[in-house]
Amino acid sequence: MTHIITTYISKGGTGKTTVTKNLAALSVLKNKRVLILDLDTNGHIATALKYKESQFEYFLQDWLMGRKTFEEIVMRDETTGVDFIPSNNGLNEVEVHIQLQQNSNRPKPPNQHLFLKNKIDKIKHLYDYIFIDTHPSGVNNLVPMAVIASTKVLIPVRVDEKDEKQMIESVEDIQGFVNSGYEMDYYVIPNAVDLRSMKEEHGYLLDTLNEMNVKNVSEPIRYSTAVGKNSFKVVDLTKAPSAGAKKIISDYEKLYQTVFGGDK
Ligand SMILES: Nc1ncnc2c1ncn2[C@@H]1O[C@H](COP(=O)(O)OP(=O)(O)OP(=O)(O)O)[C@@H](O)[C@H]1O
Ligand SMILES: [Mg+2]
Repeated sequence: MTHIITTYISKGGTGKTTVTKNLAALSVLKNKRVLILDLDTNGHIATALKYKESQFEYFLQDWLMGRKTFEEIVMRDETTGVDFIPSNNGLNEVEVHIQLQQNSNRPKPPNQHLFLKNKIDKIKHLYDYIFIDTHPSGVNNLVPMAVIASTKVLIPVRVDEKDEKQMIESVEDIQGFVNSGYEMDYYVIPNAVDLRSMKEEHGYLLDTLNEMNVKNVSEPIRYSTAVGKNSFKVVDLTKAPSAGAKKIISDYEKLYQTVFGGDK
């Protein structure tokens, strides 16, 4: 079974792109066939993989709107072995496209909210894991469409910043989807944690999540300059890991087990 794994939190900068990229790269090392779809108009996945927007001819919207086939636009990142489709501002067209379909007099495709799921369903047999990295803002309707298409949702949070409100709202959003009958597991991931000084804040976080009946809270991913410099490549680090890199790799290994270890 293919897993669709989407990052979701209304706060920016909590680690959505970093967690997506590193978990995706680690999945390749575990012999999984991995695709990342960038649903963030800022195109951060391509940046994290060290590409520039000017290197791309086509973007996610070209496939979603039927201008290009999936095979024509999917790219392979040779460093990580991850397939990906980049994004840019033009992704906003997709929502207009969906809206126009809704408003037209022509026969409408049913279930507009399944637009993204229907697209992914056609290609998911090619992959074990399809990661979707999202935009932090709530205005983009493609993000809930990605959540609906997902089997797993990742909610990275920064324990050291005042983003508890957004975390609670985001968890409630996902719980809302689950309560409406969409089947998905969701994981809160305390990210960029200073393991020496964050014990108290981490305790508050766990209490809050416990009160909200959140079952899956991962072990913290530590703060690491290897990640902060945006130079973290799982493949490189496993070849010649420094002591610091080894620690963060082991955090990601634990996260991998938390997210995928229970799967058959
Ligand atoms: N474990 C970590 N240790 C140190 N820095 C980290 C860690 N994880 C992420 N960062 C850094 O935090 C910053 C924000 O991370 P990232 O871009 O992944 O967040 P995001 O949620 O995708 O942001 P946006 O909302 O802008 O898409 C980046 O500079 C990244 O390198
Ligand atoms: Mg991002």
